[in-house]
Amino acid sequence: MDREIKKALIGREEISARTAEIAEEITRDYRGRDLVMVGVLKGAFVFLADLVRRVELPVEIDFVAVSSYGSDTESSGVVKIVKDLDLEIEGKHVLLVEDIVDTGLTMKYLTGMLRERGPVSVEICALLNKPGARKVEIEVKYRGFDVPPLFVVGYGLDYAEKYRQLPYVGVLGAVEGRNETS
Ligand code: IMP
Ligand code: MG
Repeated sequence: MDREIKKALIGREEISARTAEIAEEITRDYRGRDLVMVGVLKGAFVFLADLVRRVELPVEIDFVAVSSYGSDTESSGVVKIVKDLDLEIEGKHVLLVEDIVDTGLTMKYLTGMLRERGPVSVEICALLNKPGARKVEIEVKYRGFDVPPLFVVGYGLDYAEKYRQLPYVGVLGAVEGRNETS
């Protein structure tokens, strides 16, 4: 069933401007360092693509894919690695690029896993951040926008695999929060 987008929460111009600012910060912070930017599939693919094209450094790009056990809209905290990195990260700086940090459980797990491989640093860059939904404390070094605890879609984020291609971030009409399932 298709649901209507109730409203655009963050427009494409706003996303583009903020992405440019973050890319500038990353360029400044990682100059002269070996940086691997790691997109978390699938949600981060749009943000990562726009972000890396504005980072003026010779970065390496890789991806991980995770799935959390349990229902799709409720994070269980138990994360399964569906696709691991292809690159070695020992001695390198890792920047995880995520669509949204909600409970923080996925990022907690991933940063912990990657830190065991001997990188110099592991940091997080998230387009969206839901501060009200946190279950574990996690530092998000680069944050695009804070959003209210609503279920959002677009710009990579899906609801049941739909809406990822929207060029903006919107709120779904009938969906009030992430605990409501299809
Ligand atoms: P966390 O482990 O609870 O932080 O979950 C993060 C993941 O849940 C994100 O990577 C998204 O895939 C998904 N997620 C959380 N909130 C939303 C939302 O509002 N819209 C779409 N996906 C979401
Ligand atoms: Mg995700």
